[in-house]
Amino acid sequence: MTILEKMEDIEKSLPKDQSIDYLANKELILNILELRERKNVLILGHNYMAPLVYQLSNENQRGDSLALSRYAARANNLIILFDGVRFMAETAKILNPEKKVLIADLAAGCSLADNFSAKDVLDYKNRYPGVPIVTYINSYAEVKAESDYCCTSANGLDVILHAAKEYNKDKVIFIPDSLMGENLQDDLDNNGHKIDLIYPGKYDEKFARCEVHEMIKPEDIKNIRLQYNMQKGAKDTAVIVHPECLKETVEEADFSGSTSAMTKYVRNHSELKKVYLGTECEMTSNMAAEFPGIEFIKTCNVFCQHMRRINLEKILYSLQNEVYEIHVDEDVRKKARLSIDRMLEIGK
Ligand code: 13P
Ligand code: SF4
Repeated sequence: MTILEKMEDIEKSLPKDQSIDYLANKELILNILELRERKNVLILGHNYMAPLVYQLSNENQRGDSLALSRYAARANNLIILFDGVRFMAETAKILNPEKKVLIADLAAGCSLADNFSAKDVLDYKNRYPGVPIVTYINSYAEVKAESDYCCTSANGLDVILHAAKEYNKDKVIFIPDSLMGENLQDDLDNNGHKIDLIYPGKYDEKFARCEVHEMIKPEDIKNIRLQYNMQKGAKDTAVIVHPECLKETVEEADFSGSTSAMTKYVRNHSELKKVYLGTECEMTSNMAAEFPGIEFIKTCNVFCQHMRRINLEKILYSLQNEVYEIHVDEDVRKKARLSIDRMLEIGK
């Protein structure tokens, strides 16, 4: 696709309410695309990016953490620009040590990754010797390096089952997300797996939560259902939430899954007319553009301050100057890579 064709494609693919924004930022977008071509940059875009940023990436280069890790593992461009938060860009660097991996703002953190250290992992290892450790991808390299497996919200259950079998254990440690841990324990119980999942907060005082998803309370879901006439189980409406939400919130929803699983659910239910997504609000903007026939309920107070740090101006600056590069200590990287490779192997 030429740069002009890509510009047309972006304009066409944006949500209707973004056309003024597109006109205001046309030059910036054009400059970014020219640099992308000239420097042979792969731009990966997480589903939570604002539409103008999201559309910079080609269709198969956008997605959830798992899809983007898989894509990064196959990349042959010399530079990768990751439009997402730092732990995601770091994962791309762990998989591509010889490439330059850039992020438009190195301060784009994550309340899960920022509140869990390698020392915290070692504490669990000492408390439960021999029990496999499955670490959510929302963590930094030092934490992954001390873990046996990495997982994402798309494959958590599969990785936990695999780990229990490989280590021949009926206990698995899952870190750092306390709320997802509780949801995964529920999934295990509901599917008849007798595995005790040890996650922060279950048998100790340690907690790590996504500051965005913990805000969505079961009462909010009930109110949305009432206000927008969306009964649980109705064929033409759906309330879909991310598994980083409270267990009680997940129980009120029609479906829970990773950001890509949410899109897949909507795609596979052609009868849907109204949808509420209990997750970062820009995900709703991107879905609304993809499914114009569906009315999406948008709650703009649910947003990730870290994801919002990534904008067109900073992307251009990072690409022009090749700055805001991700670096990972080589020993840490090699160990962290093992946990990611083990995860990628499971899904093959
Ligand atoms: P996904 O892996 O579902 O894209 O989620 C990443 C994330 O940070 C959700 O808050
Ligand atoms: Fe982290 Fe939550 Fe933001 Fe996802 S939405 S990056 S889990 S703070």
